Amino acid sequence: MVKKIFAFSIRKDEEPYVKEWAKDHPEVEVEYTDELLTPETAAKAKGADGVVVYQQLDYTPETLQALADEGITKMSLRNVGVDNIDMAKAKELGFEITNVPVYSPNAIAEHAAIQTARILRQTKVLDEKIANGDLRWAPTIGREVRDQTVGVIGTGHIGRVYMQIMEGFGAKVIAYDPFENPELKKQGYYVDSLDDLYAQADVVSLHVPATKENFHMIDKDAIAKMKDNVVIVNCSRGALVDTDAVIEGLDSGKIFGFIMDTYEDEVGIFNEDWRDKEFPDKRLKDLIDRSNVLVTPHTAFYTTHAVRNMVLNAFDNNLKLINGEEADTPVKVG
Ligand SMILES: NC(=O)c1ccc[n+]([C@@H]2O[C@H](COP(=O)([O-])OP(=O)(O)OC[C@H]3O[C@@H](n4cnc5c(N)ncnc54)[C@H](O)[C@@H]3O)[C@@H](O)[C@H]2O)c1
Repeated sequence: MVKKIFAFSIRKDEEPYVKEWAKDHPEVEVEYTDELLTPETAAKAKGADGVVVYQQLDYTPETLQALADEGITKMSLRNVGVDNIDMAKAKELGFEITNVPVYSPNAIAEHAAIQTARILRQTKVLDEKIANGDLRWAPTIGREVRDQTVGVIGTGHIGRVYMQIMEGFGAKVIAYDPFENPELKKQGYYVDSLDDLYAQADVVSLHVPATKENFHMIDKDAIAKMKDNVVIVNCSRGALVDTDAVIEGLDSGKIFGFIMDTYEDEVGIFNEDWRDKEFPDKRLKDLIDRSNVLVTPHTAFYTTHAVRNMVLNAFDNNLKLINGEEADTPVKVG
């Protein structure tokens, strides 16, 4: 019997990759919609053996039940995060779930590196000046990357690529990670503690997960330990940074520049169009308006390379589940 996979909330930029996967798998029937998966839309997947999904919206007990009512319990996420899935219900219904934990570390690392270089060269200030007809050089003088010591917190998939790129610019790179990578250790990158890193780094870049222990790891105390004129880069997770403490550091001049691709209150704000509506977050608006703060709405990952991998890997995983094979990246259910 022909196998069928149904995909929810397929965006326009994902569509070519869905078609690419379908073309490469003529033995599988592929259907999709741009609608999110809800108790009401679940029936669209009727007759499918598995579903491919990606949404900020919760996978509630009702949503999971609605899928199970269609006989579908094999669900493959195109993203990493699984905290919006009601795992107890998923377990009760016998769901098998997969995600895509690594899709393109370069996408995020490259973005962080580009923004770091931009902050050091004050490009936002220059762009604003030029747009207003002010073509004078001073006082907008740049700092060269090769003169910086770049401190990388977290040397996992993304941190390691960021290190390489910054080294390519000629920076001195140091790193801290409680789980040291043997290769990097041999090459002498690691300092012994975060305090050591803060004491030496001109740029502090975060590449760690948002665990309970890491909540607000960049707070008033951490910033006080950093060098004057430090640049802080957060392309990881909003919860890692105490935004108020950073604002204080920006106001006092301690922090030279702040790069934020993530924000602790971003849910419901990022990836929305606020042009004709009242902007919902004064603190964020204030940050966006500052010439030494670069805000991007969690777009570091958003490249053609990454989106393609997210789609293809999710479909590959789902087919394996359907065929009763072990998926490449299963998620623990329960
Ligand atoms: N902005 C985006 O679009 C985007 C996209 C994907 C991932 N991310 C985020 O990037 C971050 C890194 O992802 P990754 O794939 O490299 O993760 P990873 O799991 O490969 O690496 C994380 C590393 O951080 C280390 N670590 C954990 N706590 C630490 C601490 N307190 N101090 C120092 N090191 C610590 C771990 O030992 C690990 O080596 C995550 O927060 C992830 O959510 C952001």
